[in-house]
Amino acid sequence: MSPGPLVRVAFPAPAPFGQGPPPGGVALLTIDRPEALNAVSFALLAELVAALRALDADRACHCAVLTGAGSRAFAAGADIRELAGQTPESLRAGDDFERWDELRAIGLPIIAAVRGYALGGGCELAMACDLIVAGEDAQFGQPEIKLGVIPGAGGTQRLTRAIGKARAMELILTGRSISAREAAAAGLVNLVVPAEETLDRALQLAGQIAAMPPIAVRSAKAMINRAAETSLTDGLADERQAFFDLFATADKAEGMAAFAEKRAPTWQGR
Ligand code: HXC
Repeated sequence: MSPGPLVRVAFPAPAPFGQGPPPGGVALLTIDRPEALNAVSFALLAELVAALRALDADRACHCAVLTGAGSRAFAAGADIRELAGQTPESLRAGDDFERWDELRAIGLPIIAAVRGYALGGGCELAMACDLIVAGEDAQFGQPEIKLGVIPGAGGTQRLTRAIGKARAMELILTGRSISAREAAAAGLVNLVVPAEETLDRALQLAGQIAAMPPIAVRSAKAMINRAAETSLTDGLADERQAFFDLFATADKAEGMAAFAEKRAPTWQGR
């Protein structure tokens, strides 16, 4: 029996929102292993990254939303059954963890739409996205300590940057999960919405981003991520170069002309 795709990709009809024509260009990726609470196996991660890389290279795609099938989980972690048989040697010999680096190299903005459990590798996956929309039923946590290990796909680094050392220490050393509201108060998520509205609200937010000029969006994402990597002096220098570079784009000319002419811009993505 073939396992079937572990990640489904779709291009939903544009959701209506606030102002302007609803844009297309939003891809929806669904982790589709609900029977295992969408646990992230190595194969699933490879599929997810391959799908995102294809979308990243697709000029028609301007924003991605990543969610989990069903209402119980975004992803309840890396696949514990698969991890149970690993040794330091097997992990070092494999290239499975390189998929996490490839995920980080995606220039397309990605929004995590989280219902239910986002635990361990699932929380790390949500944090590897650029924004998080959480349903009221979402739970975030890094419970790896209870398995005798630590977060291994960015949890100690991204959670600390997102919510600060004191709170990250508490969550990672105790394995305690937090609710969507606590996660929002701590700065981990962008917004908390009624559970059933989670996907629609994430798609709506994606539509707003997809309506912006795509080269500037990618540049902004890259520079914001740069802030976590570098000194203020170097980050400011990089930002200035990125800003200057955008002045060579047709979208900059269009955006500024449209402002002067009091009309809506039409982006070309170049
Ligand atoms: C594999 C998992 C899984 C996981 C759940 N399942 N989480 N399988 N890996 N991470 C499976 C269960 O075995 C079960 O399969 C089915 O999903 C439903 O789960 P239940 O436990 O029966 O559901 P429930 O009682 O409601 O409990 C939900 C839960 C619990 C609290 C989320 O499943 C749980 O504690 N899961 C593990 C959470 C965790 O420790 N995550 C971190 C993993 S380590 P069957 O076949 O029995 O029905 C990690 C390291 C990342 O993520 C490092 C870098 C990659």
